[in-house]
Amino acid sequence: MGEGETGTDRPRLPAGFRFGTSTASYQIEGAAAEDGKGPSIWDTFCAEPGRIIDASSGAVACDHYHRYREDVALMARLGAHGYRFSIAWPRIQPTGSGAPNAAGLEFYDRLVDELLAHDIAPMATLYHWDLPQALEDAGGWMSRDTAHRFAEYAAIVAERLADRVAHWVPVNEPNVVSLLGYALGMHAPGKTLMFGALPAAHHLLLGHGLATQALRAAGAQAVGTANNHAPMWPASDSDEDKAAADLFDTVWNRIFADPMLLGRYPEGFGDLMGVSASSTTGGGSTTGGGSRTGGGSTTHDGLDEDLAVIAQPLDFYGVNYYNPMCVAAPADPASEMPFDQREIPGYPKTDFGWPVVPDGLRELLVLLKERYPGLPPVMITENGCSYNMGPDEHGVVDDQPRIDYLDSHLRAVAAAIEQGVDVRGYYCWSLMDNFEWSEGYTQRFGLVHVDYETQRRTPKRSFDWYGETVRANR
Ligand code: NOJ
Repeated sequence: MGEGETGTDRPRLPAGFRFGTSTASYQIEGAAAEDGKGPSIWDTFCAEPGRIIDASSGAVACDHYHRYREDVALMARLGAHGYRFSIAWPRIQPTGSGAPNAAGLEFYDRLVDELLAHDIAPMATLYHWDLPQALEDAGGWMSRDTAHRFAEYAAIVAERLADRVAHWVPVNEPNVVSLLGYALGMHAPGKTLMFGALPAAHHLLLGHGLATQALRAAGAQAVGTANNHAPMWPASDSDEDKAAADLFDTVWNRIFADPMLLGRYPEGFGDLMGVSASSTTGGGSTTGGGSRTGGGSTTHDGLDEDLAVIAQPLDFYGVNYYNPMCVAAPADPASEMPFDQREIPGYPKTDFGWPVVPDGLRELLVLLKERYPGLPPVMITENGCSYNMGPDEHGVVDDQPRIDYLDSHLRAVAAAIEQGVDVRGYYCWSLMDNFEWSEGYTQRFGLVHVDYETQRRTPKRSFDWYGETVRANR
C-alpha cells in the first residue's frame, strides 16, 4: 500500500464492523506481586538469566494495574468500540486452584466497569500465558489436570463478569504456548520436549473446551478463540519443500483449528496427542515422551470424548495474524525438526524483521472459509507490527510504517469480506507498547508510545489514523 493511498481514502468495512485494540495481562499490568497475586511461569522465566533479551520482566511493564483509568481514557479518545484484555489467572487463584482472591477479581471488575462507562465492549481472554507457577510445578499444560483447573478458574471469573463481558476467549494462541513454551523452550516454562510437547497442545485444547462449557453455564454472551494462524508457503515447487510446508501447516494451524472446528485431529496426529486411558475419568496426568511417535506410554482411550468437548460450537472464531511463513525441507535430513523456516524475500520488514504481507491475511481468511465450511463469524483478535520509533523533539511519534501496515491489512480484511468471508471485527495489537515476551521491551507494537522510565503515554500518529478510520466507518 503506497503512502499516497492512506490519506483521506480509508479502508471501508461493513456497517456494524467492530474495531478494537488488544493487550495481555503480563505484558502491561505490572504489579506482579500485589494484592495477593501469586507468581506465574513468566515471573519465574524472566528471573532466569539469559531468557529475556534485555534481561527485563513484566514486573512493572506499563503499570496498567495502577493506571488503567488513564488507559481506558486513551481508548475512549481513540473511539474504538472494543478492547481485548486478558485476566491474570494467578491474580484470581494465586496457586491455580481453590478459593478466589477477592482483590484480583475486584481489579477486573473495576476495569470492566470503567470500559462500559466509556461505551467500550470488553473482550476477556482467560489465558494469555501467565500460568500460576504452582500449576507448572505440578506438570503445567503437560498435565491433564491443568485443563480441569482451568475450567474451575473460568467458572469463577465468569460468575463475576459474564453479565458485562461481551466476548470471551478461553486460550490465546495454544499453538504458540505448546510450540514455544513446551517444544522449543523460547517461552515460559522453557521446556524443550520437541514433538513430545503434543500432549500440552491437547490439554490446552481440552482446557479451551471445558472453559467454554463453564463460561456458557455461567451465562457468557459469546465465546470464541484467538488462534494464531499463518499461511504456509513452500520455499520451492519441490515435493520435499511442499511436504515440509504441509507438515508445518498441520502442526501450526490444523492441530488447533481442526479439533475445534471439525471435532478431529489431522490424519495421523490423533495418536500423538498423549491421551491416556484415564482420560474418561478426568483425573491423572499425562507426561509426554520425547519422540515424534508419541512417547510410547499413551493410549487412545478417551480421545473421542475429549474431541467432543473441544469441538464446542463457537460464537466467533478469533484469528491472530502477523505474517505467512516460508517453509523448506530441512537442509540436514537427520534434523530433529522436519522443516526449516526461511526468509520471505521481496517484502518490507517490520523492526522485528517480520515480513509485511497484507494479502497473506486475505489468503488466510479465504483458506479458513474453504477448509472449515461451518466457520463461525471471524474476528481478527490480533494484527499489528513492531516499529520502534519514539517521540521527536516536538513529542510527535511519526510511525508512518504502522499506518501503512494497518491500512493495508484492513484493506485485506475488506477484500476477504468481498470474497465471502464473514469477518465481524478487527482488534489491533496493541493499544500500547509493552513487554514483548522473550524480546523484553525491545519491540514496540503500540498505537501509544510508552516511556518505561516515566510511564508517560504518547499517542502515535497511527493512533490518530486508527481513530479517524474508526470514525470514517461509523
Ligand atoms: C501474539 C501474542 O498473543 C501477543 O502476546 C504478542 O505480543 C504478539 N503476538 C506480538 O508478538
